[in-house]
Amino acid sequence: EQSKHIAQTLSEFRLTKEQLLEVKNRMRIEMQNGLSKSTQDSATVKMLPTFVQSTPDGTEHGDFLALDLGGTNFRVLLVKIRSGKRRTVEMHNKIYAIPLEVMQGTGEELFDHIVHCISDFLDYMGMKNTRLPLGFTFSFPCRQTSLDAGILVTWTKGFKATDCEGEDVVGLLREAIKRREEFELDVVAVVNDTVGTMMTCAYEEPTCEIGLIAGTGSNACYMEEMRNVEMIEGDEGRMCVNMEWGAFGDNGCLDDIRTEYDRAVDDFSLNPGKQRYEKMCSGMYLGEIVRNILIDMTKRGFLFRGQISETLKTRSIFETKFLSQIESDRLALLQVRAILQHLGLDSTCDDSIIVKEVCGAVSHRAAQLCGAGMAAVVDKIRENRGLDHLNVTVGVDGTLYKLHPHFSGIMHQTVNELAPQCNVNFLLSEDGSGKGAALITAVGCRLRQELN
Ligand code: BG6
Ligand code: GLC
Repeated sequence: EQSKHIAQTLSEFRLTKEQLLEVKNRMRIEMQNGLSKSTQDSATVKMLPTFVQSTPDGTEHGDFLALDLGGTNFRVLLVKIRSGKRRTVEMHNKIYAIPLEVMQGTGEELFDHIVHCISDFLDYMGMKNTRLPLGFTFSFPCRQTSLDAGILVTWTKGFKATDCEGEDVVGLLREAIKRREEFELDVVAVVNDTVGTMMTCAYEEPTCEIGLIAGTGSNACYMEEMRNVEMIEGDEGRMCVNMEWGAFGDNGCLDDIRTEYDRAVDDFSLNPGKQRYEKMCSGMYLGEIVRNILIDMTKRGFLFRGQISETLKTRSIFETKFLSQIESDRLALLQVRAILQHLGLDSTCDDSIIVKEVCGAVSHRAAQLCGAGMAAVVDKIRENRGLDHLNVTVGVDGTLYKLHPHFSGIMHQTVNELAPQCNVNFLLSEDGSGKGAALITAVGCRLRQELN
């Protein structure tokens, strides 16, 4: 009886190939809505132009600072790029914490904190007096009007600082640098993490024309034909488009596959009703879906002897790291129990089997949904180019992709099944988005000089 109920609950997370193809098709429709002038104002998948018009060609050169804000870690980096016969990239970086009260305080506090960290980094490197060009990886939706201007559309993930939405984040950064009156910097580019990741990978692998993040959040970018990017003048060549696909479904188009647990996670999030696809497939939310299912099963008496502990009521206890450990095939059930114990959940052996099953169902669906989205992207590129067959590389980063034992494999397999006319190669970005931001900054500096 009990196992029937459990199986039934988890079956809601199983998607058929037809359903996944339907998700792919809907993503394709939303992409078109975001690109077309007549529909883009109301589009949920925003398809934001990035003003990055080519991938690296190896001529990038110079010393750059990069900031990397919006993922698990906030970093400041110094990136030294050397062109020529022996291309090299040397990086120095330091990770800084952003306290929760700064992430969700005022915008001024947030940017003052960022500049404080830059100051510390410059001291650490002994570089206070060099006015370096800076690339700002800012992993949130920004409406760009040039390489170095980006208006924050809305915060996503765990950020909610006041007075930033609707503002140019490069302006906010420049003002904070001025307020400090300690050093000067030349902010050249604002870059989404997907774009930084694509550029990092494209530096090594020229067929890389797509960037994917499966981490705290979920998003992708790719090289779109200029003629299809209707909000930007000109028909020649290509431009990288930051899809902001996390918002897919915000118009209700995924409601038929969302479960009551997805709705609960959404309702109690910082941004209810927003980023619905992201809330089904990224690291910040998977643990919350799991937790909601576990609470429900406990209420029904199937788990934890029917006792809902304080821990189970605590938001965000199941981080990506724990889900990844729980699902590891090398782990004996006893170790799964140890992890749950560590989280403060007293489990029997049966409990731990169920918890592992729940985690598996949730992450499997996440990987498939992410794959369905990617299948839409690769087929769009293929059709753009009028090809029967496309070879393409996706540069990928993110803790979910890197840490989870099954996510990447299931995602790859789903892309293959849903986009059989494409041969899609996935390349893990080893250095994060900071390197890509520096490469974009290098091109930005060169273009500036050419204009002057
Ligand atoms: C890396 C970046 O590319 O991946 C981060 O350098 C980015 O800033 C991240 O946001 C995504 O991973 P996560 O899991 O840290 O959100
Ligand atoms: C969120 C952000 C997006 C970012 C993604 C991955 O979806 O809105 O800009 O790329 O997270 O970090």
